[in-house]
Amino acid sequence: MRRHLVVLVVLVALVAAACGGSSGGDTGGGSATTVATTAPGGDGGGGGGAGDAANGEKLYQGTCVACHGPDAKGVTGLGKDLTTSEFAKGLSDEELVAFLKTGRPASDPANTTGVDMPPKGGNPSLSDDDLLDIVAYLRTLE
Ligand code: HEC
Repeated sequence: MRRHLVVLVVLVALVAAACGGSSGGDTGGGSATTVATTAPGGDGGGGGGAGDAANGEKLYQGTCVACHGPDAKGVTGLGKDLTTSEFAKGLSDEELVAFLKTGRPASDPANTTGVDMPPKGGNPSLSDDDLLDIVAYLRTLE
């Protein structure tokens, strides 16, 4: 009785193994789906093309706000209104970045207020990319 049971168990095990093996082999050749993962458009750092206006707003609120005000409409006796600036509108993004890097000292004949516009708004840690982001932000206000 016990021996029969053992043989039966072994047989069942063999059959199961055989079935498992064959079915495994049969289902192996499924369709090979190739998922094309194209590189996403964003480059994360504003490396190419226009700057990141959201980041620019943060940088603006950290540096330029003191003289140009929270809405960039200017502060009397300090920075000018940037939302209506024909000067800024007339420059390309790259030219405006170049302007921000040099500023416009009171001694500059082009200065209209007698107040310094400091290079990079007085924040030397701003990179070209940061300035491009700020320009992108200013473009949303013009
Ligand atoms: C210390 C005060 C001060 C800070 C900080 C400052 N500015 Fe200015 N900015 C000025 C003044 C003053 C002028 C006007 C200069 C003049 O009389 O021509 C000016 C002019 C400008 C102009 C030219 C506007 C025009 O119509 O001629 C731009 C653009 C500008 N600032 C952008 C910025 C940005 C962007 C930042 C931050 C990175 C910044 N400024 C930070 C004081 C400041």
